[in-house]
Amino acid sequence: MAAISSVFRSGLFSNKVAIVTGGGSGIGRAISQELLFLGCKVVIASRNLDKLQKAAQEMKLQIPKKSTADVREVKCNIRNEDEVKSLMDATVQHYGKIDYLVNNGGGQFPSLLADIKLKGWNAVIETNLTGTFLCCREAYQKWMGEHGGVIVNIIVDMWKGFPVMGHTAAARAAVENLTKTASLEWAPNHIRINSVAPGTIYSDSAAANYADPETFSRAIPNVPAKRLGKVEEISAAVCFLLSPAAAYITGETLKVDGGSSLHGFPGFSVPDHEGFKAYDWETDIKERKKSETEMEKSKL
Ligand code: ADE
Repeated sequence: MAAISSVFRSGLFSNKVAIVTGGGSGIGRAISQELLFLGCKVVIASRNLDKLQKAAQEMKLQIPKKSTADVREVKCNIRNEDEVKSLMDATVQHYGKIDYLVNNGGGQFPSLLADIKLKGWNAVIETNLTGTFLCCREAYQKWMGEHGGVIVNIIVDMWKGFPVMGHTAAARAAVENLTKTASLEWAPNHIRINSVAPGTIYSDSAAANYADPETFSRAIPNVPAKRLGKVEEISAAVCFLLSPAAAYITGETLKVDGGSSLHGFPGFSVPDHEGFKAYDWETDIKERKKSETEMEKSKL
């Protein structure tokens, strides 16, 4: 297990309480670990209790001695309104408050727009958009509306569209807009809310979800930084936005993408088209054929 560290000062989040959805793996786990390292009490939430419990146990072992940090797992399907309400209740009951909410939980499967079935479309929208909305609303209702707080929504690099991921790109673009509305409506409640838009970030859990192992390496030539991002680089951006260093930032989106959103679309070039026929989506079609399996794997 890699040692955890942070560029932020030790104890920065002492006695703070955070909820991180999807906090047991990938980017969510990196965020949870850095928050713990900085003294925060963290509730990690997702649907798979076994995985969550294992992650929480492992993370507990990494908490520095004499730290105020603590970690607990709460099973929660963010698409289920009652379960989201229970997540907020459980956090307030156990830790007494909710200072921070990081909406990181999400899921999708690769498919061309033309092939997305309504069930798959609805599942992706419900998880990534509706789930985020429910978590924001219930954090507001159960704690932040009266006491303030900070929210960070994790979205994606969808600024130029997102071939083979159109459903999640649409949902995340909507979350970006939701972030702006919430920042205005909830400013009087001392709530700041921002988004972080990761570029192509390598994590073992993301890699396990892709049928095509080249998915990551195909992106590199179009990333100005000429490398993939690291989960710790997303976590650092989230910690910055949660911290007092960002006290005057709200309704904003921070791109953490090695410059890729200013350049080409990572891993995609516009194919030649001759009439309607000679269009070769070789790689994407390979993915598309697997999309049903992907969907099952991601349990949407
Ligand atoms: N991560 C992916 N999908 C999720 C869901 N429905 N609830 C919580 N975390 C998730």
